[in-house]
Formats: sequence, structure tokens, C-alpha cells
Amino acid sequence: MNILNEVLQNNKTSLNPIWIMRQAGRYLPEFREIRKKNQNFIKLCLNNELSSEITLQPIKRFDLDAAIIFSDILMLPYGLNQGVEFKKNFGPILGDLKLNETLKITDKEFTKKIYPVYKAINFVSENDLIKNKKSTIGFVGAPWTLMVYMINKQSPKLSLKRDFFSDKDTIDKLFLLLDKFLKVHIKNQIESGAQVIQIFDSWAGLLNEKDLPKFIYNPTFSLVEYVKTLNIPVICFPRGIKNYKAYCEIVKPDAICIDYEVDPIKIEKEIKIPVQGGMDPKVLLTDKDNLKKEALKYLDIFKDHPYIFNLGHGVLPDTNPDMMDYLVKTVKDY
Ligand code: CP3
Repeated sequence: MNILNEVLQNNKTSLNPIWIMRQAGRYLPEFREIRKKNQNFIKLCLNNELSSEITLQPIKRFDLDAAIIFSDILMLPYGLNQGVEFKKNFGPILGDLKLNETLKITDKEFTKKIYPVYKAINFVSENDLIKNKKSTIGFVGAPWTLMVYMINKQSPKLSLKRDFFSDKDTIDKLFLLLDKFLKVHIKNQIESGAQVIQIFDSWAGLLNEKDLPKFIYNPTFSLVEYVKTLNIPVICFPRGIKNYKAYCEIVKPDAICIDYEVDPIKIEKEIKIPVQGGMDPKVLLTDKDNLKKEALKYLDIFKDHPYIFNLGHGVLPDTNPDMMDYLVKTVKDY
């Protein structure tokens, strides 16, 4: 078994697998080269030859333990026929949500529309660099975060549109729809070769405590349970949430990915399941001594705990690939 799955499935504490959120992306010159010639981001995600190549780019450079497929959480609304575009220096822009039409879409139509994503997972997981050596990670957005994009139609940055919660009927119907198609999307990824699923809840931190059961705990638990029935481990990343302990007890993922605002010492004490991530991505913008010091801090804190090295959010576009190389070597030498 590859070492990421060893930690997730057998709670091994002696191994320190490493992969990095957004490892396939804008900090790599070879990615920028491809991106320059492919202005349409969705089309690039649907070009399975290029998306496989991009997925493997960081694996060729660094001794990472997993490949995360080059795709996006917004491929799900795209697969449900909501318009999705990425505007330079702005982020995603979605079209109007036409719920009545979306409710008529079948599993087959959805799968067909984003089929190249699954083809890329299959290709990557069978590649000589990966097969029997490293894990292939599939992923989805959590229902709450996808709902944020589908209703808000752009990144909420600091807050949601004022009338976000006004249409209760739409919210209820959208949750049912997301539950159904997220499960289809998860199953398709696993059948194509994904050995781990990560659920990204990037906007979990926007909600008040009292809204967590309805918008986060219940819908995410439904997905976690589903992934478990397929015998694949699931990592949850509820970024910005205040009480990670309560989240783990209620949602019951196989591992929890922490953001850089939380105290890792407290997490190590409170949480029994494998932990992933934590280090501030900005540390990679400093110098090697500081990078080593910060990485060792996390490794030391979690030395007797099943731990997967990662950052507390995606690697920043300004990161020097040499710093990434140094980080991976530091973790591997530990
Ligand atoms: O981690 C990886 O390397 C795999 C690929 C991956 C992408 N997006 C590629 C991407 C993954 C796992 C994601 C997840 C994703 N997408 C999340 C959850 C994680 C997080 O960052 O909070 C979210 C919220 C999105 C939605 C999204 N996609 C936004 C807001 C943006 C624009 C701003 C940004 O962060 O870049 C994207 C575009 C995107 N997705 C890029 C990449 C490499 C940049 C595309 C480009 O301009 O070249």
C-alpha cells in the first residue's frame, strides 16, 4: 500500500507522507506555459491529455506521495449546465442557476459532460510514476461551498450577498440535488482509480455556529458515509471552522485537514484521527531556514500522531519551485 493510504487506513505514525493542495498549478513554469496557450480553464480541465500532464508535473519534479487530479470543484455546477467561467485576476463567475432545468438532468448526462475528468484520473492512476507507488486523490467541493458558488455566482470573499438565505425552497432543493450528484461524481472518480477522496469546504468559516448542522454537518456527513461504503478513505477540509473537534466527532471523516489559523498543539491533543496540513503557505515565500523551522514545528508536534504533511491552504502562485523542493526534502529527511 502507498504511504498516504497506510496513514489513512492503518493510522501509521512512523510515516510522513506529503502532498500539497494546488500542487498542480500556477507556481510551476511548465503549467504557466500550458495555461498561456489554453485560455479557457474549463476546456483545459476537459482536455484529458493536458490535465493528466499537468497532474503529473509536480510528481516529476518533487518526491510527493500523491497526485491530485487537475480539475476544479466547479466542474460539478458545470456538469449540471450552470455556466462557469474564470476571469483573470477575479476568479470564477457562474451563470444563473436554473434549478427547474437542473432538476431534470440525469446521471448519465452529467457523467458524459465531464467525462474527460474521469479519463484523466484513470490515465494518471495507471501511469508508471503512480501505479503501486503513490496515491491518486479525487476531490469534490462540500455541498455548502458549492452552494455558495452556485447561489452567490462568484467568490464571496468576505461575505455573502445579503439575500443569500432568502429563498429557502431553492436552498433545500439544491442540497438534495448536490447530495445526489456529488455521490455520482465521487463514485465515478473512485471507479476511475481515485484511492482517496478529499472534500473541500473552503467557505465553512462563513457560517455561524447555529447554522453548522444544517449547512455543513448533515450534508457532509452524508457524503462521508457514502465514501466509506465504497471502502475509500475520505479527508475533510472545513477551512476556517472554529471547532475542528466537534466537526470530527459529528462528520466522522477518516482524516481532517486543518487550516493555518488553528493551533496544531491543541489539535494534536483533541483529535484522535489522522491530521493533515496546517502550515501557512506564506512560509514558502520566506527563506529556507524559516521554512525548515516551520516544517519541523509541525513534524515535531505530530511525531506520535498519524500525520500527512500539507499546507493550511493551497500553495501560492508566487512560490518559488525551489522552496517546494526544499520543503519536500525536509519532510522526507525527517
Ligand atoms: O490541488 C490541485 O493542484 C488540484 C487542482 C485544483 C484546482 N482547484 C485547480 C485550479 C483543486 C483541488 C481546486 C479546488 C478548488 N477550486 C477549491 C477548493 C480549494 C480552495 O482553494 O479553497 C475552490 C474554492 C475552487 C474554485 C476556484 N478555482 C477558484 C476560486 C479559482 C480562482 C482563484 C484561484 O484560487 O486560483 C479557481 C481556479 C483554479 N483552480 C486554478 C487552478 C490551478 C487557477 C487557474 C488559473 O488561473 O490558471
